Amino acid sequence: MIQKVKVDLGERSYNILVGENLLSGNDISGLKNIVKDRKCHIISDDNVAPLYLNSVKILLKPAGAITSESILPAGEQNKTLESIAGFYSDMVKAGLDRKSLIVALGGGVPGDMAGFAAATYMRGIKFIQIPTSLLAMVDSSVGGKTGVDLPEGKNLIGAFLQPEMVIIDTTMLKTLPERELRCGLAEIVKYGVIIDDKLFSRLEKNIDKLNSMDLNFYASIIAECCKVKARIVSQDEKESGIRAVLNYGHTFGHAVETVSDYNVGHGEGVSIGMCMAADMAVSLKLMEPEAAQRQEDLLLALKLPTRISGYDPEKIIAAMSRDKKSENGTPVFIVPRRIGMVSIEKNIRREDIIQAIRGRCD
Ligand code: GLY
Repeated sequence: MIQKVKVDLGERSYNILVGENLLSGNDISGLKNIVKDRKCHIISDDNVAPLYLNSVKILLKPAGAITSESILPAGEQNKTLESIAGFYSDMVKAGLDRKSLIVALGGGVPGDMAGFAAATYMRGIKFIQIPTSLLAMVDSSVGGKTGVDLPEGKNLIGAFLQPEMVIIDTTMLKTLPERELRCGLAEIVKYGVIIDDKLFSRLEKNIDKLNSMDLNFYASIIAECCKVKARIVSQDEKESGIRAVLNYGHTFGHAVETVSDYNVGHGEGVSIGMCMAADMAVSLKLMEPEAAQRQEDLLLALKLPTRISGYDPEKIIAAMSRDKKSENGTPVFIVPRRIGMVSIEKNIRREDIIQAIRGRCD
């Protein structure tokens, strides 16, 4: 069964399709209309391409696509403007014009970069997302945030461009390394804490299904998360308000990732960041300690890190002030109030931030 979730953005609305074996055999409704005999440039990485590049080419062929590709070495350290320049050259060589299409095939890194290439090539062309990691399926492939990192911090260069379609084939989770699966679970827990206490309770009650990779359960949870994200993005596409809640755990988390030179994965950073944010909320008496403990227990049950060791807390603090969610150097925090509710806080005192970071650093 294919579940369809609509991101409602007027003329820029699109569907997220979630189902098993979408890449092989299913006629994906609407794909032909998007591809329409265009040149399609597939952007992927060298972990994913050997597994799925051919299937994507086979999927696009009946829609008349003429395909070419850029394959990036896997890893956040390659999410750079230099890599994007390489894509542009490949795209010019392949004869892509303003009617051509980019297909993002991979996790968050190829997805964000392919979107950025699409947003900027010839002042903007269309693109499709085919996320292959859990994290990309539930978060980064939906909502139109695209970009690259600078040495100074994550995602400091970017653009908003909504995809034409998101194709989530849950069968791909079977080839996902366990560590990456767990990174995606951190983003799923995030949705529960920020907005959906029922989702959070469902996760608590189904830890076995999550840890044993029950694909049916995953499909329903992924669709659930996409619905939450679609609702938020439809209300606030460019993050002038409510969309910021999706950054819960990310202000601390991005700083942890940057300072670790990306040895800490994005979801791991988010997991540690959510714990720092919850500690801060508890010490400011904005959240009951029991709720913070529930969050930590769930993260631990899903084998996610909740502390970091071996890094200087001062460096984490410095990295955080360069975060693009800062306003005049003061970080904006999404603070949990209870399971299912957060608030956006701009005036947290530096001492309270430092205390939260130090408390989770060994
Ligand atoms: N990952 C946060 C957002 O898409 O807004």
